[in-house]
Amino acid sequence: MQSLKGKHIVLGISGGIAAYKSAYLLRLFIKAGAEVQVVITPNGKEFITPATLAALSGKPVVSEFFAANTGEWHSHVDLGLWSDLMVIAPATASTIGKMANGVADNMLITTYLSAKSHVMIAPAMDLDMWAHPSTQRNISTLQKDGVEIIMPSSGELASHLVGKGRMQEPDEILRRVELYFSQKESLKGKKILVTAGPTYENIDPVRFIGNYSSGKMGFAIAEEAAARGADVTLVTGPVSLDTACQSIRRIDVRSARQMLDAAEIAFEECDAAILSAAVADYAPEECHDSKIKREKTDGMILKLVKNPDIAATLGAKKKDKVLVGFALETDHEHDNAVEKMKKKSFDMIVLNSLQNPLAGFNKDTNQVCIIKKDGSETEYPAKSKREVASDILDNLEDFFK
Ligand code: C5P
Repeated sequence: MQSLKGKHIVLGISGGIAAYKSAYLLRLFIKAGAEVQVVITPNGKEFITPATLAALSGKPVVSEFFAANTGEWHSHVDLGLWSDLMVIAPATASTIGKMANGVADNMLITTYLSAKSHVMIAPAMDLDMWAHPSTQRNISTLQKDGVEIIMPSSGELASHLVGKGRMQEPDEILRRVELYFSQKESLKGKKILVTAGPTYENIDPVRFIGNYSSGKMGFAIAEEAAARGADVTLVTGPVSLDTACQSIRRIDVRSARQMLDAAEIAFEECDAAILSAAVADYAPEECHDSKIKREKTDGMILKLVKNPDIAATLGAKKKDKVLVGFALETDHEHDNAVEKMKKKSFDMIVLNSLQNPLAGFNKDTNQVCIIKKDGSETEYPAKSKREVASDILDNLEDFFK
């Protein structure tokens, strides 16, 4: 599918080792139907040749203010106006610093300063450079300027050190670009609360009761809702996910109690709540102040008390808000889901199939059946969580018609 058909992308490349991945990223953009103009910094050319990039993009690469052979002036203003999106990948610490401070000493920065379009950067650098206060200060300046940051991931770096600073893989950058262009307005003006992830219930300062929820489904819903123009509040338990979209208001919590407190506040304002969190049903009656010593006991009985049911609490005061719940059942799945929808005053329930190995915790795919309170239901095949999020929101939008 040519998801970027007809889009004009300026691909900025600065001088870091991750520049070798930019050729693949460029290929992905072209395959998706985009027209791409590469702008590369002088240092970038040390890592990847303009000849490779020109062959892949079908356009001469722009690097200097004046073309070497003809002396022709390259207009950064024209390029800035031509672009529907500017993506700088990799963005080095130096390029980030220059962008944040308007130091326009190369073609890439002058193009950035002239760009009327949205700008995304995919930083890539060594972990200490990434963690340095000046880099972090520059990143937050760029965020305030409206630049979208595709946060680096953790892993082995070119220095062989392990930490945060790896440029996101080209596939992930493409996904973010597609996300940007797929933005719709169908949920504009709607306030949506999403709960996601597990909850951790403390036993003592170092131990807890938790579950395997990764938060991926809830994060995909929050991203898709934001892409449709909704004003999203995401209340999440402990997860290792970044929120892709800067417009999402993210509130990190740990326990079910904390999740309830945050959700209740956001619920007052919202038009719909989608409760995808895997909330622990029970919590230890007491949380010990200090670590429980093994020597002190041969065995122990942990007394658990019931956690608040966030869904039911919100359901009791929902009025005209739309409430969407999830169900994961091992037997009589369908009947139990319908029963749960009634009990918790959901308008719609998303039943996760446990029959399919492509569904469930920590997977990138999910298979669901969506049941509405009017009795209608749709079974979907296994899809990526992002596509499932889209199906859920299509169904949610029916309630706003
Ligand atoms: O009862 P069960 O946990 O299967 O219900 C699942 C649905 O209820 C999910 O939407 C989940 O987020 C929500 N839930 C909740 N608070 C709880 C337990 C579940 O909001 N304490």
